Amino acid sequence: MRIARTIEELRDALEPLHGVSTVGLVPTMGAFHEGHLSLFRAARAECDTVVVSLFVNPAQFHEERDFAQYPRDETRDAELAERAGVDLVFVPTSEEMYPPGYQTWVEVAELSRGLEGAFRPGHFRAVATVCLKLFNLVRPKRAYFGQKDAQQAAVLKRMVSDLHLTLELRVLPTVRDPDGVALSSRNVLLSPRERAAARALPRALRTRNLEAARSLLGELEVDYLEIADFDPPVLAAAVRLGKTRLIDNVPLMEEET
Ligand code: PAJ
Repeated sequence: MRIARTIEELRDALEPLHGVSTVGLVPTMGAFHEGHLSLFRAARAECDTVVVSLFVNPAQFHEERDFAQYPRDETRDAELAERAGVDLVFVPTSEEMYPPGYQTWVEVAELSRGLEGAFRPGHFRAVATVCLKLFNLVRPKRAYFGQKDAQQAAVLKRMVSDLHLTLELRVLPTVRDPDGVALSSRNVLLSPRERAAARALPRALRTRNLEAARSLLGELEVDYLEIADFDPPVLAAAVRLGKTRLIDNVPLMEEET
């Protein structure tokens, strides 16, 4: 497995592959868990070359503290990626992605507004921009995302369609712990008591019913609980447990598992 830290190194590594190899891209912010690994495996199964980007994108963090405390462990991540059969990891610095004078942003206007967008102004503009940059740099045939971040997937699908990008966006199911809690890099920040309380979130969403879910979330501090008209439609929520904020959603069409 190769590691590219600069755009030049990335281009050098990919250049011989264009036109001869099907490239799959999995954009990530690291701190890998089974959710990320499920995307790597899908890409491995469907593409000749698997590229993973690992970049904690400062622009998409609303709060400085959230960015500072975001878990980072590149050595462990590189091992997990290698074991999952990833060919190339792109680990750029902030300066590489946003050099001095940087001023170009992509805005998916309407879909970025509600739910997460209402609580994290500028978040989806930064996610869309960094993903478009990665798509341009890697030029993948397929890019892989998790249903866990349903609004992110909806925003990116819209961008791909609106900007006539030719890549295929693949969205894969949310991977959960046995107690139902969706895997998230932020789960490691929860105290044991908060981790236990987090179970209420998937339990509530699984009802697929707004009223029932609201009552099951009872004790938690809820940022929003809403039915979102994405494809597929979901019941989505964000809650705060101490200093950590968790999001989750359940597709409304899906059978109970
Ligand atoms: P990150 O939170 O690292 O997530 C990378 C990818 O893994 C996203 O597509 C996310 O939806 C998916 N993912 C996270 N938890 C998952 C789970 N439990 N099951 C399945 N998939 C899961 O999302 C981002 O990074 C960033 O916003 C990014 C797209 C990289 C842009 O900076």
